Amino acid sequence: MTTITTQGLRVTYGEVVALDDISLTVEPGLTVLVGVNGSGKSSLLGAISGSVRPSAGTVMVDGQPASQARARGAVAYVPQLDVIDRDFPVTVHTVVEMGRYASRASRVEDRAAIAQAIDRVGLSGLERRQIGELSGGQRRRVLLARALAQQAEVLILDEPDAGIDSGARQTFYALLRSFIDEGRTVLMATHDLASVPDLADHAVVLHQRVIASGKPRDVLTPEVLAQAFGMKP
Ligand SMILES: Nc1ncnc2c1ncn2[C@@H]1O[C@H](COP(=O)(O)OP(=O)(O)O)[C@@H](O)[C@H]1O
Ligand SMILES: [Mg+2]
Repeated sequence: MTTITTQGLRVTYGEVVALDDISLTVEPGLTVLVGVNGSGKSSLLGAISGSVRPSAGTVMVDGQPASQARARGAVAYVPQLDVIDRDFPVTVHTVVEMGRYASRASRVEDRAAIAQAIDRVGLSGLERRQIGELSGGQRRRVLLARALAQQAEVLILDEPDAGIDSGARQTFYALLRSFIDEGRTVLMATHDLASVPDLADHAVVLHQRVIASGKPRDVLTPEVLAQAFGMKP
């Protein structure tokens, strides 16, 4: 069981302060990260998964510097869908295979892990398909399969539920739940506030700083939502 801890984390882009003084503990189970556009969700996920360099603070995974945990393949990252180019000529199999880049297992084990991950997300038979030929829901499942193939303890997902219909979203959530039930630690940014109370074990409301953190029903109060989203309490 793996815990992520950030201490005094700060992320800036030039003059823009995206995140300031983020001290957070992410426990095993599903933690959702909510906040308006520009509140720093992707910056936080990037700082944990290594694509964004913090200007101050630390990220620890299982008591170890996150860089070490990442080097042993313990952290899998599913980026926002808009970062994959639909026209890039790459097959389902090739994308999922990327999940094994840090692997030191044998080729036989690698192949088995890839096949198992593709099967688990329900894409068996589509291995040779170009990702550009898939639906949005299927492409998200390809990215999830890549993360599953990595057999990481920690899964970081950036709005995997955006822009797919509710059927595809429910399929995705069910897959995620089975993964969590195996004892993984999952941190996911989402816009789907309505699903959070049923879906998540913990919620974090972000707006450059942590506005609230705890059990979804305790955290997503009218007052907090007013502060984070400008909604009327
Ligand atoms: N690469 C970047 N260069 C400059 N500013 C950025 C960059 N990425 C994010 N930002 C800014 O940092 C802030 C937080 O962005 P982001 O982490 O993407 O938030 P969210 O994912 O919640 O929409 C925003 O003000 C955004 O404009
Ligand atoms: Mg974002």
